[in-house]
Amino acid sequence: MGNCWRGCKQVGSHHSPVHTFPSSPEYRSAPNGDSKRHSAVERSVSTSDPAASARGGERRKAPEKSISGGGGDSISSSLKAFTLAELKSATRNFRPDSMLGVGGFGSVFKGWIDENTLAPSRTGFGVPVAVKKSSNDSSQGLLEWQAEVRFLGKFTHPNLVKLVGYCWEDRQYLLVYEYMPKGSLESHLFRKGMEPLSWEVRMKIAIGAAKGLAFLHTSEKKVIYRDFKASNILLDGDYNAKLSDFGLAKFGPVDGYSHVTTRVMGTHGYAAPEYLATGHLYVRSDVYGFGVVLLEMLTGLRAVDTNRPSGQHNLVEWAKPCLSDKKKLRKIIDPRLGNDQYPQKGALLLSQMVLKCLDHDIKNRPSMEDVLERLEQVDLMTVRQKEFETSPFYHKSDVGEGGNHLSRGVAVNGGGSRAAGGGQGWPLASGQRAC
Ligand SMILES: Nc1ncnc2c1ncn2[C@@H]1O[C@H](COP(=O)(O)OP(=O)(O)O)[C@@H](O)[C@H]1O
Ligand SMILES: [Mg+2]
Repeated sequence: MGNCWRGCKQVGSHHSPVHTFPSSPEYRSAPNGDSKRHSAVERSVSTSDPAASARGGERRKAPEKSISGGGGDSISSSLKAFTLAELKSATRNFRPDSMLGVGGFGSVFKGWIDENTLAPSRTGFGVPVAVKKSSNDSSQGLLEWQAEVRFLGKFTHPNLVKLVGYCWEDRQYLLVYEYMPKGSLESHLFRKGMEPLSWEVRMKIAIGAAKGLAFLHTSEKKVIYRDFKASNILLDGDYNAKLSDFGLAKFGPVDGYSHVTTRVMGTHGYAAPEYLATGHLYVRSDVYGFGVVLLEMLTGLRAVDTNRPSGQHNLVEWAKPCLSDKKKLRKIIDPRLGNDQYPQKGALLLSQMVLKCLDHDIKNRPSMEDVLERLEQVDLMTVRQKEFETSPFYHKSDVGEGGNHLSRGVAVNGGGSRAAGGGQGWPLASGQRAC
């Protein structure tokens, strides 16, 4: 093949030297056939190193050594350039029984590499990794692969999956990530036989994912993630959420609500209405997708499911009228949460926030920082309530009628806390106190 990409690889080092993105491949095949993603082909924008405005606990990589290439586009020197042979060895030739998942780009396999040298190792030795392999060498595959290398190669954050390296060889594009043992949020919510996630774990996941998205949105060159959905939220062993799959990410406009225009890409059921209608993509288009995922987490239902009765295929359209009403909400909430196992007031606060995230007018949608703040408020409410219920002063009978500990207790305990309505920067929904 003789592309500069592999030709430039430094033998004996797991860090790649000057690597530039390959130019156009021979565009001979159609975009990957992911039925969920809208089909359209779009060129990625050029990149520069996004610097820092970060929330607490976040960090960015130190500036990379200068690695310039044609057009100034370059690959982070902290990523390893793997050979295809190495990745075949790490995954036992992409054995079907090591497959972790399939997406719009291709299939993901579990493999093993040495922790220090990053050389392939035997199964069970070294550290596990996830190797994503494109289905074919379509132009769309290359663009998505480039976007992942660009964005994940430049950012380091506890709520973004870590990219270890990449490979482009024999018309195949591959990416090597840290292995996320609990897989995707999608599998936990929807796969048969999975243990239902508790309210607390759902909150933890929502907060982690919100932190990842808020981080991207507040970076100097705002990043629009564009494909926020349950299958792109991965979970480590402690249910810490990390965003993966940056194939559709773009740098956004720096100021206000202004937009970038793109061909429509994304996933049916999650994509914001203004984007679907006009191709105008805003930072707050991601907030819409976040609202959809939160709704999936609250209801345990997929964003789109044609197996549901007619009128319920689209979760947002069906559930929206129920989100501001306590009684209606109770009817659509995931029954696997159990009546006593979630805070009804907290759930209502969240569903009101979901409603704002799903607003057709992007100006009425909250920022991801606002969303994060509200999620943390609701989480705090739950934690305080649990503490209250386990304190020696708590007697269930004192709380009043009804069996919902958490919702009862929040009413008793919530006064004066930020969660009870004193949150900063968040417009209170009308009637909120009455609930
Ligand atoms: N790092 C990882 N660890 C564990 N499973 C993963 C990892 N990356 C991806 N997967 C699994 O593979 C699926 C598809 O991965 P994704 O990156 O979304 O691919 P695509 O770009 O093709 O959509 C995920 O939903 C998840 O189940
Ligand atoms: Mg995906």
